[in-house]
Amino acid sequence: MLKKKVETALNEQIRIEAESSQIYLSMASWAEVKGLEGIAQFLYKHSDEERMHMLKFFKYVNERGGHAIVSELSAPKIDFGSFQQLFRELFEHEIMVSECINNLVHITLEEKDYATHNFLQWFVAEQIEEEALARTILDKIDLIGSDKGGLYLFDRDIQQLTVNSAADPGPA
Ligand code: FEO
Repeated sequence: MLKKKVETALNEQIRIEAESSQIYLSMASWAEVKGLEGIAQFLYKHSDEERMHMLKFFKYVNERGGHAIVSELSAPKIDFGSFQQLFRELFEHEIMVSECINNLVHITLEEKDYATHNFLQWFVAEQIEEEALARTILDKIDLIGSDKGGLYLFDRDIQQLTVNSAADPGPA
């Protein structure tokens, strides 16, 4: 049975993952209307992954006798300025998510909830991968600079970049 404090913290993470999914969906739409097809596809997929994260938390909360909550979400931005700015925001967002996961891990230790602590290890590993991927993308963007041909290749190749998720069957 989940302690109330852990349940509340997990529900907050459910909201953050849902919001992440919405942000990346809005980024995908921005890229698509700009004709950045590869970047858009990458972001649609990233948005789906965030929903998968959200559902993972969702199922866990209910499985442990809690009640997973669907919260109201803030509307994401519509305009992301440039693809460079977009990916910088994506990177910063993932850093924020990693901090939230770390705080959750901390709460489970304080509450001596070792089952949830164990459950969270998948997310700890996932955040390492997500941050690494975002950093790789920023490095590539730096290499391109203002070269149009470079952007064309980047847009084509980004679809091959995916998070190497920890071995996991996905949400139950
Ligand atoms: Fe669910 Fe991108 O972290």
